[in-house]
Amino acid sequence: MIIAPSLLAADFGRIRSEVARAVRAGADWLHLDIMDGNFVPNISFGPAMVKTVRSATRLFLDVHLMCQKPEVLFEAFVRAGANQLTVHVELGEAQVSQLLWKIHSLGLQAGLAINPPTAMETVRPHLKHLDLLLVMTVNPGYGGQEFIEECVPKIQQAAAWREELGLDYRIEVDGGINYQTGAECARAGADTLVAGTFLFQKRQMKAALARLRRLAAQAQAARPARSAAPAA
Ligand code: DX5
Ligand code: ZN
Repeated sequence: MIIAPSLLAADFGRIRSEVARAVRAGADWLHLDIMDGNFVPNISFGPAMVKTVRSATRLFLDVHLMCQKPEVLFEAFVRAGANQLTVHVELGEAQVSQLLWKIHSLGLQAGLAINPPTAMETVRPHLKHLDLLLVMTVNPGYGGQEFIEECVPKIQQAAAWREELGLDYRIEVDGGINYQTGAECARAGADTLVAGTFLFQKRQMKAALARLRRLAAQAQAARPARSAAPAA
């Protein structure tokens, strides 16, 4: 189980110590939300912030691009020290194919995100090119929103396809993750949890992160085994 605190919920005025706090708390990855004010109605930060974060840690940097034209900053994010770039399936099939190819050609891992209203069929053509599939469990744009339960079957679908197709992409969830929703997502097949507000608002982030990890791992272990297909 990978736990990725989202720096969107950190205090930007002292980002280096916030990064250090997440690292000390036992974060596996750090999640960085890039919002362009166009794909989503909010603006967050860009490559300069990723560079500052990189200067404060060697952790894997998981960069989530909520951007209409993410490619314009790909090289800048590589130079800033990103390890993985995730783009949105809502940009369209042809565009997404090119973006995933470009990310890999730059030597980074490639992720694909899907918003709550978007049908899972749209990600299917891309699955074999993915290092990670990000199932959004809120409408992107802001931290601190409520988890959308209707997204859980998408996690199950992502896990079923991964098994059927013999693929190994990670299944990440993002938005409204806490002890209860994190465990619910892990039970459905998620192996990577993004949590912003829930972790950064905790005075004892280390204890909260450990508890989130423990509850999610237990739920993951309790997943019902998929029944074998009946013999033809
Ligand atoms: C939402 C972002 C999330 C956000 C999650 O647009 O993609 O990564 O930081 O925040 P919480 O965990 O507060 O819902
Ligand atoms: Zn995100």
